[in-house]
Amino acid sequence: MSHESHLFYQTGARRPVLAEARGIYMWDVEGKRYIDGSSGAMVSNIGHSNPRVLEAMHAQMAKSTFGYRLHFETEPGELLAAKVAALSPEGMEKVFFVSGGSEAVESAIKLARQYAVTVGQGSRWKVISRTPSYHGSTLGALALTGYDPLTAPFLPMMQAMPKIPAPRAWLDGLDINDPATGAHYAAMLEAKIIAEGPDSVLAFIHEPVGGASTGALVPPAGYMQAVREICRRYNVLLIHDEVMSGGGRTGRFYGADHWGVVPDIIAISKGFGAGYSPLGAMIAADRLVDAVLGAGGFMHGHTYAGNPLACAAGLAVLDEIEAGGLIDNAATVGAVLKARLGALMQRYPFIGDVRGKGLLLAFELVSDRQTMAPLPKGLNAYVELVELAYAEGLIIYSRRSRGGIEGDHFMVCPPMITTEAQIDEIMVMLTTALDRFADRLAPTLARIA
Ligand SMILES: Cc1ncc(COP(=O)(O)O)c(C=O)c1O
Repeated sequence: MSHESHLFYQTGARRPVLAEARGIYMWDVEGKRYIDGSSGAMVSNIGHSNPRVLEAMHAQMAKSTFGYRLHFETEPGELLAAKVAALSPEGMEKVFFVSGGSEAVESAIKLARQYAVTVGQGSRWKVISRTPSYHGSTLGALALTGYDPLTAPFLPMMQAMPKIPAPRAWLDGLDINDPATGAHYAAMLEAKIIAEGPDSVLAFIHEPVGGASTGALVPPAGYMQAVREICRRYNVLLIHDEVMSGGGRTGRFYGADHWGVVPDIIAISKGFGAGYSPLGAMIAADRLVDAVLGAGGFMHGHTYAGNPLACAAGLAVLDEIEAGGLIDNAATVGAVLKARLGALMQRYPFIGDVRGKGLLLAFELVSDRQTMAPLPKGLNAYVELVELAYAEGLIIYSRRSRGGIEGDHFMVCPPMITTEAQIDEIMVMLTTALDRFADRLAPTLARIA
């Protein structure tokens, strides 16, 4: 479209107009086809325009699209909450619906705070998080986010929250499979709790499998368990931000299920609504919710929360995941894709790392694999390669890898319905884009070699 748009988001940049989307494919109004190699922003987990989900939504629309939660209970809401509770760890069976990831995280820290106040621990308010991390764009969730470009303009408006380094073993030259590595990073949490004063620390929040800020960080051996233990020792609530890693993409319903670790609160969204409706949830330990409701109620809520149309969509998405064995497919096809991405390291010396679980995968570009020094910042590789892939008809998702300041990583996260034949298609397009990128960068790469 060439006319002036009244819409704006992060930048004024324009993109082609979407005409239709089916499965892992999308078409613009000019007829160009794209593979949704990042499921949008790791959202469209079951692919686009699934006929059974659309049918369930149409059926619900014919009955009601909105019933305010203070006026009515709804059948889809009750059924979806029961289904989520059944998928969640024992003892974490209370579900609070929201419309997105930031809302889920806000809800989590507010429930944690109200619980602390309720049980006579009102001195606890600090929520420790990691750098880099992303927990959302609203001011409460942003205060937890460790990504300078996003937080810097708003610092005077937020309550500063303590941060510890994310366990990026690949940058520190540590072995991810060595339990000493997990212990090393977990000790940073304990040290921070002690430094802040244990009685002031309310919670620790982290992403069990990292999202866009770390490029699919997988925690080192022992880290998840050690963090759980430290939180228990200091009476600090453990919040898992599974907004991106929850819903099956990693090959388990929750990312933390890979380690069998049970937190106190979980935030989910993205793949939970899978792009069919804005939907998210906070899942909390029964004891927290019982205490808060018993003391007069949770002082928090969002208007669209739990609306029947969103819940009907969410239910149909979960049914589809179950019926299609999509979590197993994410594990199997994800392993194939990860191996194929890993093999690219032979061909492109500037790929420094490939990581992730299931279909939550990323690769990172470097100028030197030994030191993991990033590519020169001014190259803007994180934009360049995405554009080259886009021109080929492949959508991937990138971020600056080093806390938003420098470095370049790329999420390759197609929908959980992706077949091995479609992985071939993705790899052809990605390789073409990487070849073009290598050509374009040849003079710079020769200079830094
Ligand atoms: C781990 C994580 N938490 C929270 C959010 C915020 O979700 P939303 O953009 O739906 O508000 C995101 C979004 O990217 C995320 O990846």
